[in-house]
Amino acid sequence: MLLKHHLCILQYILETSAYPREHQLLKELREATVNKYKERSLMSVTVDEGQLISMLLKIMNAKKTVEIGVFTGYSLLTTVLALPHDGKASFFVLNLLQVIAIDPRREAYEVGLPFIKKVGVEHKINYIQSDGMTVLNNLLTNEKQEGSFDFAFVDADKENYMNYHELLLKLVKIGGIIAYDNTLWNGSVVPSKYGEEAEDSARDALRKLNSFLASDSRVDLSHVSIADGLTLCRRLS
Ligand SMILES: C[S@@+](CC[C@H](N)C(=O)[O-])C[C@H]1O[C@@H](n2cnc3c(N)ncnc32)[C@H](O)[C@@H]1O
Repeated sequence: MLLKHHLCILQYILETSAYPREHQLLKELREATVNKYKERSLMSVTVDEGQLISMLLKIMNAKKTVEIGVFTGYSLLTTVLALPHDGKASFFVLNLLQVIAIDPRREAYEVGLPFIKKVGVEHKINYIQSDGMTVLNNLLTNEKQEGSFDFAFVDADKENYMNYHELLLKLVKIGGIIAYDNTLWNGSVVPSKYGEEAEDSARDALRKLNSFLASDSRVDLSHVSIADGLTLCRRLS
């Protein structure tokens, strides 16, 4: 009953507020993703969640971001569109823009790339075909990028979220945001009323992360019940 109620609310939000404000290129990328990947297209962030991320990036005036888990690029295109890249951005600001996008599988990215290219700033995207841990370690150790990112979006490899957290707390500047997607894991992070639970390493990792973040004094915390759960951490020190 409660679930039905929540689905009705979600449908209402999408139809009333989110779809009418969805950027045309995001809509086209979303439709191409559904056509190609059917059920798997659900891996993309939802339209309302994308709009929350976009709002945050704009409020923060974010210029340098990193994303772990690209798929066809819905959250990546959302990010690119939210950065100050249009006629109002000065040459100096344009020079600062940088989006690092990490995914070991490039095939899905090719589906979204034609839409991303239409924004005209794909030269600001550094797509790295690799896994998140390798790239973050490299950014810290070899590229000396400590404290340089405004925003990080983590949407892959749930078992490593705790490890990403330690690296991202170094890479994101003080006041910067680390956003973790899927932190409600389809509601399954809530302990089952019926005792027995199927094995799920991602769910277990996310439970551990949620409890850990609640007492992590290095960040401000907001666990948002949107889509599959989005946890926002703002670096304090
Ligand atoms: C949930 S999807 C990302 C969806 C994307 N953020 C969006 O909104 O469209 C997860 C992606 O993470 C990628 N992935 C899996 N393991 C990874 C890892 N260790 N590091 C980086 N990306 C990974 C997968 O290939 C997949 O494309």
